[in-house]
Amino acid sequence: MADKDYKQSDFWAQKAKKEGYPARSIYKLDEIQKLYRIIPPSGTVIDVGSAPGSWTLYTSRNILKNKGTVVSVDLKPLELNPIPQNVKFFQGDAFSDEILKELKSFGEYDAIISDAAPSTTGNRGVDTARSEDLVMSVLSLADECLKKGASCAIKLFQGSGEKEILTRLRSMFEKAVVYKPKACRGSSFEVYIIGLKKK
Ligand SMILES: C[S@@+](CC[C@H](N)C(=O)[O-])C[C@H]1O[C@@H](n2cnc3c(N)ncnc32)[C@H](O)[C@@H]1O
Repeated sequence: MADKDYKQSDFWAQKAKKEGYPARSIYKLDEIQKLYRIIPPSGTVIDVGSAPGSWTLYTSRNILKNKGTVVSVDLKPLELNPIPQNVKFFQGDAFSDEILKELKSFGEYDAIISDAAPSTTGNRGVDTARSEDLVMSVLSLADECLKKGASCAIKLFQGSGEKEILTRLRSMFEKAVVYKPKACRGSSFEVYIIGLKKK
């Protein structure tokens, strides 16, 4: 990581700690939300790849203001104590039959957010391919479970499959955007694909 990236990362990590969030990723969602209003002020939102829990906490507390429901899922446990009462957490693979059944039981969603990331190997080709698989799975979930007019924001490690992903995103949403929040490390190849207004 470049020296400038270390300083930036440290700044966001310290800010998160001070504000009671378990991860610095909160500021990526905050920026996306302020620009694109992905998450409406009420309703049911799914957070895929949610641990340790900053996005889930931000959505529950700052956006839904403890009114709607955040359906939160990760392979690992949330590090939130307490877990807000409007959060329903499932631990496991979001795309396993068992968890998908639970996720679908909440009916149609008002937004889908996904910061899901594969465990990285350091081999860019492998890591981007795994990230693309995750994104495609989240898009299938969005296709099935997202309300008409609803939006999504999904993390992607940019690689050779980006064009195919954007084609799919455009086919599903009225507007498709690729956005890199300021809180992302400058040297990282992570971006967020944003789908606005599901067709
Ligand atoms: C960058 S972290 C998410 C940080 C989170 N947005 C926050 O604010 O605390 C990425 C997460 O994706 C999760 N993940 C990756 N693949 C997954 C899958 N198939 N199902 C559920 N979670 C997954 C990982 O376990 C990891 O916790």
